[in-house]
Amino acid sequence: MATFVIVGATGDLAHRMLLPALFRLWSDGAISRDFAVLGVSRRPWSDDDLRRFARDGVARTAEPDAQAWAEFAQRLHFVSCDSTTPDACASLAEALRDVEERHRTGGNRLFYLASPPSTYEPFLKALSHSGLLRRRTEPWTRLIVEKPFGSDEASARRVNALLEDAVGEDRVFRIDHYLGKETVQNMLVFRFANTVFEPIWNRQYVDHVQITFIEDVGVAGRGRFYEESGVVRDVVQNHMFQLLAVIAMEPPAVFDAEGFRNEKAKVLRAIPPVRQEDAVRGQYRSGRLGGERVPGYREEDGVDARSTTPTYAAMRLEIENWRWAGVPFYLRAGKRLARKDTEIVIDFRQPPLALFKDWDVTEMDPNVLILRTTEDEGISLQFAARVPGRRRMMRSVPLDFSYTEVGQAERPAYEHLLLDALRGAQTFFARHDEVELQWAIVDPLLRYWAEHPPSDFPNYDAGSMGPAAADELLERAGRHWRTSPVNPEASARV
Ligand code: BG6
Repeated sequence: MATFVIVGATGDLAHRMLLPALFRLWSDGAISRDFAVLGVSRRPWSDDDLRRFARDGVARTAEPDAQAWAEFAQRLHFVSCDSTTPDACASLAEALRDVEERHRTGGNRLFYLASPPSTYEPFLKALSHSGLLRRRTEPWTRLIVEKPFGSDEASARRVNALLEDAVGEDRVFRIDHYLGKETVQNMLVFRFANTVFEPIWNRQYVDHVQITFIEDVGVAGRGRFYEESGVVRDVVQNHMFQLLAVIAMEPPAVFDAEGFRNEKAKVLRAIPPVRQEDAVRGQYRSGRLGGERVPGYREEDGVDARSTTPTYAAMRLEIENWRWAGVPFYLRAGKRLARKDTEIVIDFRQPPLALFKDWDVTEMDPNVLILRTTEDEGISLQFAARVPGRRRMMRSVPLDFSYTEVGQAERPAYEHLLLDALRGAQTFFARHDEVELQWAIVDPLLRYWAEHPPSDFPNYDAGSMGPAAADELLERAGRHWRTSPVNPEASARV
């Protein structure tokens, strides 16, 4: 089957996501028995240290079955080396040979780059000189690369060139865990397997689109990482732009890796760089969340006391193509906001209301379609209904659907994607041109922000919905951010 090499195995991602996902896949029988994990990191750990660390990660969600765990743990190995030095590859090669023999993995290798992004370039250079990366199909070698993929377009291009050189695009899996969420596949079915939505999914019917990606958590112990990345590099350039591409893309002629990725790339290519006057940045100060006081960003571990890193961003984008020209796409994302939510809102055009001029329409909005992608994943369509009684009044009411009605979610995102990579399926991984195009959209803004430090940071309270300027971004066009549920009591009241 394969050896799964985790570079950066002592980190948070391996602990919380990768090792638990691999254990669950293995104990469900989704991956074969001829499987092993080789953890790589600078720390002087033993196999047993990695096993303890992995068990702790697995037990965060549920206590593992003792026998399944014992069998899986035997497949966990560790090699201590500094992956950025040329020598690293010698000890890695030796450990890999050992593991491959012991577990009869057939020589297939999947390298997962989960170390800090600054280590990718030296590691890839060392790896490709070492002969550990092969372009053969049998046994195969694949590379999964975590985000952020580079820190701007130029660095992403450099890493892409190294990957092309080392193994070739066919063996590269740029992971964006939002593509592994049920949401993306649900969206594809919603848009392309129904007749009623696609004909109105364009500038003739849509007024604007909103994508909200808000989190109540702060930087959760990752202050040092976050200082370098900030909100745009952390979630906007990748997760949000991928969601946007799936919302806005044309239907592919064939649903395979190239068909799907070609259509997403076309959307990204049609988006001009964000103008600084169309963007807002923010940073949280201390505030109250869930009844407790939480610290401000500048008080977090690993964060500079005068940091200018944004923890919130809102922006307005345009897609200059026939389907979307003139329809603004508003995006907002941030940490330490009132709640966790990722939501896509399609706001339709106002119908002509001349017929109802003497009606009370103060509680009526144009049609709105809300796609909720968090815990209670579902869809809500808001439409106008007459309020019964003698008064001439109409009000917006929601028609709600929850995905739990059609069954439970199958697998968490990382499990989906790791399994796809082990099977060699690239559809739900970003292609080289997509990440470069994603950077091109935000690079000028990030440069402008770096050259013009904010004078008003921190500018929003933890537990709030972000800085006031983000509301003004929409208000100046006569719009406002939607917050879900749109109108929770409306159906009860009508
Ligand atoms: C990660 C970001 O990629 O996505 C985190 O680095 C963020 O900062 C996380 O919290 C959000 O993912 P999810 O699946 O919890 O919505």
